[in-house]
Amino acid sequence: MAASQKPNVMSDPQSTPSTSSVAASGAHDEPLKSDFIKIDNFSFWYGAKQALFNISMDIPERQVTAFIGPSGCGKSTLLRNLNRMNDLIEGVRHEGDVIVNEQSIYDPHIEVISLRKRIGMVFQKSNPFPKSIFENVVYPLRVAGQNKKSVLDETVERSLKGAALWEEARDRLHDSALGLSGGQMQRLCIARAIANRPEILLMDEPCSALDPIATAKVEELIHELKKEFTIVIVTHNMQQATRCSDRTAFFYLGKLIEFDLTGKLFQNPSQKQTEDYITGRFG
Ligand SMILES: Nc1ncnc2c1ncn2[C@@H]1O[C@H](COP(=O)(O)OP(=O)(O)OP(=O)(O)O)[C@@H](O)[C@H]1O
Ligand SMILES: [Mg+2]
Repeated sequence: MAASQKPNVMSDPQSTPSTSSVAASGAHDEPLKSDFIKIDNFSFWYGAKQALFNISMDIPERQVTAFIGPSGCGKSTLLRNLNRMNDLIEGVRHEGDVIVNEQSIYDPHIEVISLRKRIGMVFQKSNPFPKSIFENVVYPLRVAGQNKKSVLDETVERSLKGAALWEEARDRLHDSALGLSGGQMQRLCIARAIANRPEILLMDEPCSALDPIATAKVEELIHELKKEFTIVIVTHNMQQATRCSDRTAFFYLGKLIEFDLTGKLFQNPSQKQTEDYITGRFG
């Protein structure tokens, strides 16, 4: 869809046409897509209640996109729709489409389980299983029937390193995950989310229960992970959005009000509602 057809995107002067590259990747020769996730005129209802209104936005590959906005504006609803988590709720329906890497996530040929493998999710409250650290990380592989020791060992080391937890956990891999600190548990959940090498990582307020040191670690990690993954993060913390995202989307009452480069949106928003929100005049 051309930029002119995106009614909710008020200003994105530096956005590139959807077919052009947004950056050159060191590890991959393929140009990165500026519309890796394409949300196309998407509306969503919980029963009779409409929670999202005609959202259109292009989320670029291997960048960090932040969703901000007051409580109840639909950030989690939109995030959960990106891997069809909301399908689990009775009485929901949608209009419009979400296209990931050129394929609709509602394509009847797509299996939801394999979609969720491609799109990992980290929740606000870390949710480790009452199992060992090792078993938490390899859980998605076990579910998929993978029990080969060498594969599992490799996955645990790679994922814990990826989540910046390896050094702290390598000597206690078979201890219960419930003995980890809150910040370590959240990083364990990130390790579990990346164990299956997803293309996209969705994070819903991943730092809201963490202290400043653990938060800084997760933010550092987000910075590292975007070399490999496309990241969408919901946050209430505007400093966090400024520190770790490339682009920010501001939502209000289920509508996308403004979506722009993070620096532009915070320093020079084009919509009054965005300005009022980021300056604390409402929210
Ligand atoms: N399972 C559900 N059933 C019915 N309505 C829901 C459900 N989940 C969310 N809603 C409604 O949808 C709207 C958007 O909620 P959502 O959780 O997406 O907001 P949010 O922006 O993530 O808020 P917060 O910042 O508080 O997490 C709200 O009005 C909420 O009450
Ligand atoms: Mg939420």
